[in-house]
Amino acid sequence: MASLAGAQAVAQGAKPVEVAVTIRADQPGAKINRNIYGQFAEHLGAGIYEGVWVGENSSIPNTRGYRNDVVAALQKLKVPVVRWPGGCFADEYHWREGIGPRDQRPVKINTLWGGVEEDNSFGTHEFLDFAELIGADAYVAGNVGSGTPQEMSEWVEYITSDTKSTLAELRRKNGRDKAWRLPYFGVGNENWGCGGNMRAEYFADQYRQFQTFIRAPQDNKPVKVAGGANVADYHWTEVMLSQAAKDMDAYSLHYYTFPGRWADKGKSTGFREDQWASTLTNALRMDELVTKHSAIMDKYDPGKRIGLYVDEWGTWYEPEPGRNPHFLWQQNTLRDAHVAALSLNIFHRHADRVQMTAIAQMVNVLQAVILTDKEKMVLTPTYHVFEMYLPFQDATFLPAEFRTPDYAHGSWSIPAVDVSAARGKDGKLHIALVNVDPNRSATLTTKIAGAKTGNVSGRVLTAAAMDAHNTFDRPNTLQPTQFKAQRKGDQIVATLPPKSVVVLTVE
Ligand code: AHR
Repeated sequence: MASLAGAQAVAQGAKPVEVAVTIRADQPGAKINRNIYGQFAEHLGAGIYEGVWVGENSSIPNTRGYRNDVVAALQKLKVPVVRWPGGCFADEYHWREGIGPRDQRPVKINTLWGGVEEDNSFGTHEFLDFAELIGADAYVAGNVGSGTPQEMSEWVEYITSDTKSTLAELRRKNGRDKAWRLPYFGVGNENWGCGGNMRAEYFADQYRQFQTFIRAPQDNKPVKVAGGANVADYHWTEVMLSQAAKDMDAYSLHYYTFPGRWADKGKSTGFREDQWASTLTNALRMDELVTKHSAIMDKYDPGKRIGLYVDEWGTWYEPEPGRNPHFLWQQNTLRDAHVAALSLNIFHRHADRVQMTAIAQMVNVLQAVILTDKEKMVLTPTYHVFEMYLPFQDATFLPAEFRTPDYAHGSWSIPAVDVSAARGKDGKLHIALVNVDPNRSATLTTKIAGAKTGNVSGRVLTAAAMDAHNTFDRPNTLQPTQFKAQRKGDQIVATLPPKSVVVLTVE
């Protein structure tokens, strides 16, 4: 097990970085929408089949086909929202193929992700029941790329109608009497690429047309999410917002982090320090992207009615040797935990515009919070960050003022320390602290303006190795441990080990 003492020993000899922090409890900002802690689950590799769904007859313990260990872990994480069925898969998905008796559903080829058979055994009913089981809201991504407005419209009716329409009756025949709640519906995914290779100008019209036919009962109308830009494609955002702002409730953005170039993304474990530094530098680019896309949104939506949904984000490394390269299975290390913490902190800072995000992806794909191998399951370091950050869901953002030295390695240089604070729904103050320097500890002296400092408790996620991770044989190598901060008068002094994520709670 990773120990604080062990990690601190690594830092011996290197003088700690010193940072003074002021938390402005007297200047509360926006509410941090709990949906910032959302997840993305696609029909890709073992993301759904095996990761979530094993079927009722599996020897893996399950509830109506959903594996019990994964469900329990997701319930503990209080996942607010799950986006499904893709991703690129959404633009080739035809919902009618995923309803009715499972043994009569068509078997298709998942042409996007490895050419494997897709037996459609996990469809609309299975997804919406799963979302209910884990207590999450459903975010269904519709098919613009190869579908029709009629197909999309009928899907929404099938899910939401409480009438005696033929589609609502078909749903009942298939086992679901009451309409499901459908809080979020995506119109388009990466339509600049796998979603149809469209130009922004063309997609803006397509979006306007398709969204017209999303008709649902007044009390169950989904938020309409417009397919958005790739990384720094500001032209896409300009066109979409100028042409279709009035027809959207939310607008999506996708950004993935990798250490090197797309053609040479680097490995998920066994990496060098320059790859640690480049990955974290690239993760911080999220701030620039959100800032610039938001500035365009501000032009057309100054009242911030339209949420920016970063509904795909996370790390993307080279495929794991020995695994199907199209399944995007990768290990998840302390480095991923840092990417998660830095990204979540960025989303907190932009909570006035960023209303939802979805990490890619929930189980067994890319920066997964959970990995499974047949009957075994491990919680990844990223899972632990999401769990440590639970008090930030629906908390009120509090600005943090601090000046930090940089952590520099080779040509990479980023702020050594990051801080995010909020007033939780529990009334307590929660402070997330990240020390990205893998070699030096950081002593933070924090004062809180506008509030009294009471008892402080904390937890830390750290390890001696940059690529520390949990395996199926050693699932608890990396997990949060108790962290001690000291109170000195009205200040809190916390010495963060090198490469660590800490969350403090101040009574
Ligand atoms: O998450 C994997 C893929 O990344 C998604 O299907 C797609 O939307 C994105 O390019």
